Amino acid sequence: MPIKFSKAEKVFTLTTKNTAYIFSIACDRYLVHQFYGKKNVRYTPYKPYTVSFSPYRKELGNTWSPDVFPQEYSFFGYGDYRTAALKLRGADGTGVTDFVYSSHRRFNGRMPVEGLPFAEADEHVQTLEVKMIDSVTGCELLLYYTVFYEEDVISRHMILKNKGQSPVKIEKCMSMTLDMQGCDYDLVTLYGGHCVARRYQRAPLHHGMQSICSRIGASSPQYNPFFALCGKKATEERGDVYGINLVYSGSFLDEIEVDQTDCTRIQTGLGEENFGYTLLPGEQFCSPEAILTYSSKGFGQMTRNLHNFTRNRILPQNSLKKPHPVVLNTWEACYFNIDEEKLIRFAEESAKTGFDMLVMDDGWFGKRNNDRAGLGDWQENPDKFKRGLKTFVDSVKEKGVSFGIWIEPEMVNPDSDLYRAHPEWCLRVPGREPLLAREQLVLDMSNPDVVEFLKNSFKKTFENVSIDYFKWDMNRHMCNVGSPALPPDRQDEVPFRYMKGVYALLKWFTEEYPDAIIETCSGGGGRYDLGMMRYGFQIWTSDNTNPYSRTWIQRSSLLAYPAATMSCHVSNPRDDLKALDFRYKVALGGMLGYELNILNMSEPIKAEMAREVKEYKSFEELIRLGDYYNLVSPFENDFSAYYYTDRNRKEFLFSLIEKKDTAPRSTKPLKIKEAKADKNYVDLLSGSRYTGKELRDGLILPLTGEGNTAILMHFSEEP
Ligand code: DGJ
Repeated sequence: MPIKFSKAEKVFTLTTKNTAYIFSIACDRYLVHQFYGKKNVRYTPYKPYTVSFSPYRKELGNTWSPDVFPQEYSFFGYGDYRTAALKLRGADGTGVTDFVYSSHRRFNGRMPVEGLPFAEADEHVQTLEVKMIDSVTGCELLLYYTVFYEEDVISRHMILKNKGQSPVKIEKCMSMTLDMQGCDYDLVTLYGGHCVARRYQRAPLHHGMQSICSRIGASSPQYNPFFALCGKKATEERGDVYGINLVYSGSFLDEIEVDQTDCTRIQTGLGEENFGYTLLPGEQFCSPEAILTYSSKGFGQMTRNLHNFTRNRILPQNSLKKPHPVVLNTWEACYFNIDEEKLIRFAEESAKTGFDMLVMDDGWFGKRNNDRAGLGDWQENPDKFKRGLKTFVDSVKEKGVSFGIWIEPEMVNPDSDLYRAHPEWCLRVPGREPLLAREQLVLDMSNPDVVEFLKNSFKKTFENVSIDYFKWDMNRHMCNVGSPALPPDRQDEVPFRYMKGVYALLKWFTEEYPDAIIETCSGGGGRYDLGMMRYGFQIWTSDNTNPYSRTWIQRSSLLAYPAATMSCHVSNPRDDLKALDFRYKVALGGMLGYELNILNMSEPIKAEMAREVKEYKSFEELIRLGDYYNLVSPFENDFSAYYYTDRNRKEFLFSLIEKKDTAPRSTKPLKIKEAKADKNYVDLLSGSRYTGKELRDGLILPLTGEGNTAILMHFSEEP
C-alpha cells in the first residue's frame, strides 16, 4: 500500500519505489510535515518547541505555534509568519483563515484537476485526500497527494469549496507547501530570455525569501517553473536532490523561504500578483498540479525520475509510442514568403531525402506577408494558394510526405479582419491603448466566445484538408491584461481564465483532429512546461538554432524534461559538410528535424542529409524513450558528453560535443557505467568492438580543439 495511516500515531506515510513522504496530525487540527526523502531511513520526528512572541492557542500550549512547526499547507494571518500558500478574503474582509484537519480518505486513481492538464493515473495509482475546514468562512479545503510509485513522484494539488454563505476571494493560491528541516541546500533554477531560455543557475539558499516567477502570462523563457533543491555537495551521481515542477503554462510563482528556525519552506503555484479568484457560495476552485520527486543519487536520478514521469503520465501516449516524424520546416528557408509551387518542390525533395513531413510555417493565411498583418484571419491566402489549401496539401502528399501547418490561435494583428470586426476580443484595459509586441495583440482567451470563434474558423479552413501536425505558436508577452467580457471585480481572474481557454482549445484540437500531432512553441521555448506537454507531442526548443547555444539549451532542458519533448532542427549548413555533421550531431540530443531551403542545397549536402536521416531512424527510439545519462555538462566544461540507453541496457547512443573554445587534449575516461561488464559491444557506426568492461572503465577520446566537432557512437550488445 503506497499510502498508510497509523491511527495510533496519526501519521500518514506515502511511499514510492525509493522515497517516503511522511506527515502527521497534531493536536487534532494541524498537519505537520515530518519527512521527505529516502525510503526506510530513520527520521527524527518533529518535536514542538517554544519561540518567544510566536502566537499559540492557549489550550494547546505555547509549543504549538503555527509560526514554528513544519506545515503541510500554510495559511495567511493565523500566526504563521512565513509565506502563505492560501490567502482568502472572506466576508470579514481580513484575509485571516485557520483551516483545521477534519477527515481523510484514500482511493485508487486520482482526482481530476478541473479544466487544467494533469498527470494520467490508472487504478494502480493511489491518492490521499485530506479535508480541512475553516469555521469562519465556511470553506472546505481538500489537499490531494497522488502517489506515482514506479516513477518516484508524488503530485499535489488542492480544491477549495466555498460552503459558506458569502463570497470569498482567493488572493493567493499555491498548489503545495513543503516545509523541510534544515537549509543547507543549493537552489537550481533555469532562467533566460528569448533565444537564451533555460540557462542553468545553481546558488546557495540564504535566509529570507527567494522566488522565481513569470508575470508574462506564459510559463516564460525568463524563468522555467521547474526548480531543484540539492545538498551542497550534490553531483550528477551523488547527493540529495529534490525536483519540483508545476503542470501549468501561465504565470506562476515558486517560493523558497529559509526561516528563523533554519527550516526551508518550498511552494509552487499561481501566486498572488497575477492571480485572484472570487468563489461564490457553492462554487469550487481547483489549483494546478505540483510535481515532487526526490533522488538520493544526485541530479542524474532526479532527471530520470522526471523523464519517466513525463513520458508515462504527461505526454500524449499515441504520439510518444510512435517514431516522431523528421520534418522539414519552412521558417528559416522562407519566412513569410510562402509560395505554393516552391513548397511542392520542397515536398518532392523532402521525400527523396527521407524526411517524413513538410511543415508549412507562418505566412500562409490572411494578409500575412510580414508580421504586421493577418493574425486572426485563419483562411488560406488565395493569392498564395490559387487552387485552395486542400489541393495544395494533396499535392504535397502525392510527393510522399505528410503535412504540418503553423498556427498562432491566441493572437491577432490590429491589421486583420478579426480585429476590425471584434476589437473587444483582445486583452485590454478601458481607457488604455493596448500595447503591441511583435506587431500583435493578445486575444481574450478567457472569453468563451473567442474560443468558440476560433474553433469554428479552424474547422472551416481545415474541413477536408488532411493535416497531420499543427505547430501551435505564441509570440508575445502579455501586458494591460483585462477582459472586456468580465466585470471590474473579476479582472484579476483573467490570466487564469485565459489559460483555461487555451487548454480548452488545445483539447478541442486533440479531439477534432485525433490523428494529428501538435508541436507547441512560444518564440521557441517560452512555454516549455508540463502543461503544454500534456497536449503537444514535442516543443520547439528555441528559436536559437546555433549548435553551440543549442548544446547548453538542450542540456538544461534535459535536466527536467525528456528528449522526446525537444524538437531540434538542423539549420542551414552553408554547403559545409563538416558544419552539417556538427549540426546533425548536436540535434541528436532530441527529436531531429531540418529547417533550411532544400532547393538550395548541393547534391553532397542532400546526400549526407539522406544518410543522416536513415542513421537517425536506426536509433531514434533510444532518444525518444531511453534513459538519459549526462557525463560532462557544457555549463562547467569546454565539451559535453552524454548517452541514452534502453531499459535492457542493450544499446547505448553516446555523444561528445566540443565547444568552440575547447583546448586540444584527451578527455578523462567517460564511463558508460550502465554497460554490462560480462558483455561485448559493437559500435554500429564505426564497426569497432569494445568489451563491457572497457565501456564501464571509460572511453578516452580526442578533443580536436577545432570546434564544429562531435563524436557519435552507437553501441549494441553482441549476442
Ligand atoms: C516563432 C517560432 O519560434 C519560429 O519557429 C516561427 O514559427 C515563427 N515564430 C513564425 O512567426
